[in-house]
Amino acid sequence: MSFAGYRVAVVGATGQVGTLMLDLLRERAFPAGEIVAFASERSVGRELDGGLVVRGLSEESIQGFDLALFSAGGSTSGEWAPRFVAAGATVIDNSSRWRMHDDVPLVVSEVNPQALDSHRGIVANPNCSTMQMVVALKPLHDEAHIERLVISTYQAVSGTGRRAVEELLEQSHALLHELEISPPREYAHQIAFNALPQAGSFAEGEDHTDEERKLMNETRKILGDPSIRVSATCVRVPVVTGHSEAVNVQTREPLSPERARQLLREAPGVTVVDDPQDARYPLAIDAAGKDDVYVGRIRRDPGHDGALDIWIVADNLRKGAATNAVQLAELLHERKRLGVQRTPSPA
Ligand SMILES: NC(=O)c1ccc[n+]([C@@H]2O[C@H](COP(=O)([O-])OP(=O)(O)OC[C@H]3O[C@@H](n4cnc5c(N)ncnc54)[C@H](OP(=O)(O)O)[C@@H]3O)[C@@H](O)[C@H]2O)c1
Repeated sequence: MSFAGYRVAVVGATGQVGTLMLDLLRERAFPAGEIVAFASERSVGRELDGGLVVRGLSEESIQGFDLALFSAGGSTSGEWAPRFVAAGATVIDNSSRWRMHDDVPLVVSEVNPQALDSHRGIVANPNCSTMQMVVALKPLHDEAHIERLVISTYQAVSGTGRRAVEELLEQSHALLHELEISPPREYAHQIAFNALPQAGSFAEGEDHTDEERKLMNETRKILGDPSIRVSATCVRVPVVTGHSEAVNVQTREPLSPERARQLLREAPGVTVVDDPQDARYPLAIDAAGKDDVYVGRIRRDPGHDGALDIWIVADNLRKGAATNAVQLAELLHERKRLGVQRTPSPA
């Protein structure tokens, strides 16, 4: 019998990441025979661009899928990803729910694709700020062994979700037109014309945000090196799309800026933009809408002989989420790892 294509579920299909995943499945000609869009009960029956009609999640509606791409938040993934797996699908999950689970590989297509082979139904997509950083760090780690990272992020509001983008635009409009500004809803403070030293939330008794902890823990898991020391400050800035990161990279072996530039030029998924004299370096507005990770400002740290400073920028919705998810689906297809699962899912 000929292969008619996979049956693919996109859960969170009305959201920013879900919408992009639907586009990318089509653009990249993923071998899907049927794509079904799922979202919350609020959206059931809504017709999306391209004609798909949103369905609700139920024990009946989730049967018979080969692949399910999730971008509907951690609680939806916690409840529904294992059910999709039990019904035969492989799940690629964008939420943080399963990322640090021992039985769930956390995979970036250019960095640790081999980890896909160990999946037992669920594959996790890393957090957006971790994702773009490890794509750039992998060749440097392979060459010179990274010992310590000091990271400051400048994260776009789309990383919080659609409502945060609306809030930034509303606040900016109000301020520019001298109108009264409504109280913040998505953030603790006004985001327009501001920089918030809090991306994510503080758990009780914690002095780092969950976003900062994700950078620390996920980086070690993906690079497969628990000894890497990571210090992170995640800042939310009034940019719509594109996370920027200043990263101080301390290595065990010597690594010159010239060699780092050469390694990064050869690295898959990376574009080097590094001519500061000519004001050429990666910018969020240039990275938005693109799939690559952009690296520039590669220079020696004058405060430490064994460290470099670099600047990393990528579209948080594309490589930071949707693009990597679809790339992982493509790799699973190539490895014939899509379809009915025979091993139990993590619980
Ligand atoms: N934004 C990023 O840069 C980024 C990067 C990496 C990972 N992620 C992760 O991806 C996920 C989605 O992010 P986003 O920016 O796309 O958010 P978003 O634009 O706010 O979209 C959220 C989606 O989840 C759906 N949803 C919410 N509650 C649901 C429920 N109970 N059952 C089924 N569907 C439900 C929403 O459906 P309705 O339209 O019906 O409400 C919508 O489709 C999050 O887990 C986020 O952490 C985001």
